[in-house]
Amino acid sequence: MRRDRDLEDPYYLETIRQTAPPIAISPGSLERGMDFEGEISRLTFKDVGGMDDVKEQFRINIILPLKNPKLFQSYGKRIGGGILLFGPPGCGKTYLSRALAGECNATFYGVGIHEILDKFLGESEKHMHNLFETARRNAPAVIFLDEIDLLGHKRTDDSWGRALRGATNVLLSELDEVGKPDKPILVIGATNTPWSVDTALRRPGRFDRIIFVPPPDQTAREEILKLHLREKPIEDIDYAKIASKLDQFSGADIRDLVDRAVELAIRRAMRSGKTEPVSNLDLLSISKEMRPSTIEWLATANDYVRYSNQSGLYDRVKEYIDKNT
Ligand SMILES: Nc1ncnc2c1ncn2[C@@H]1O[C@H](COP(=O)(O)OP(=O)(O)O)[C@@H](O)[C@H]1O
Ligand SMILES: [Mg+2]
Repeated sequence: MRRDRDLEDPYYLETIRQTAPPIAISPGSLERGMDFEGEISRLTFKDVGGMDDVKEQFRINIILPLKNPKLFQSYGKRIGGGILLFGPPGCGKTYLSRALAGECNATFYGVGIHEILDKFLGESEKHMHNLFETARRNAPAVIFLDEIDLLGHKRTDDSWGRALRGATNVLLSELDEVGKPDKPILVIGATNTPWSVDTALRRPGRFDRIIFVPPPDQTAREEILKLHLREKPIEDIDYAKIASKLDQFSGADIRDLVDRAVELAIRRAMRSGKTEPVSNLDLLSISKEMRPSTIEWLATANDYVRYSNQSGLYDRVKEYIDKNT
């Protein structure tokens, strides 16, 4: 059995990253403001299954301009800027953003809005500004702001309400600056609930490119299965057949499926005393016990698609729902 997963394994690397907090708070940070620690992402697009559309949009609109800033600027094109990714949880918003940073050799700052908010007066503003300052110093950089919808929760005039407004205002003015300087930063906002995102954030020049990250389709599911099973002892896997049983499964669901199938194989190996490969049967039997985690999201999204899609914001979601549910 292979026990030492090496550092080339993106899933393993990612697990380490997820257990280690992305933000290091140094002693004395209360006086100096929070320090944000960037990471060098080793993920690239080939570690991300499917999402060909999104990858292509990223290549044309982000990677090429970032790599040829002079050329694009001479055509009056903005370099960097803001993008909003939305979709059901576990479908790769964070993962793809890390890979994007890896593709551009950009430093990655992954931060949840809850980490910025601070009920002490003026602190949220300071944290938000520090984040952008740090990223600019380490440009090119990708700032990944997760849970961007939290900013849209209008609260009363208590300290949290003030913190929300303060952080939003600083974010807005920082976004207005992004793309101007020669030190490009890209800001990716992510949310599972785009309908709660403050509309001020979606105006031109801010998060004006809004991209739906759907659950993976058949081909993408095959790729994700392969990615998560690579370098594991497996029998000859019928990827197409297994993927066909995983309608509406998110990438994270598929990863969990693989983890559970691996556990079955390990249990067999403990009994037999030799390496037992993960089998088609393992994967199929586990898939029958699982329910795709995107179902609730799709049901909620369906209401918005039907009743508040005046701007066409949810057209891609509608397309997905019409085709897949
Ligand atoms: N397209 C994909 N290819 C490979 N793995 C994926 C993909 N989408 C999701 N995953 C797996 O699921 C995990 C959760 O995805 P994540 O990016 O955190 O979802 P989100 O940010 O949309 O909630 C990832 O860390 C990765 O292991
Ligand atoms: Mg995420």
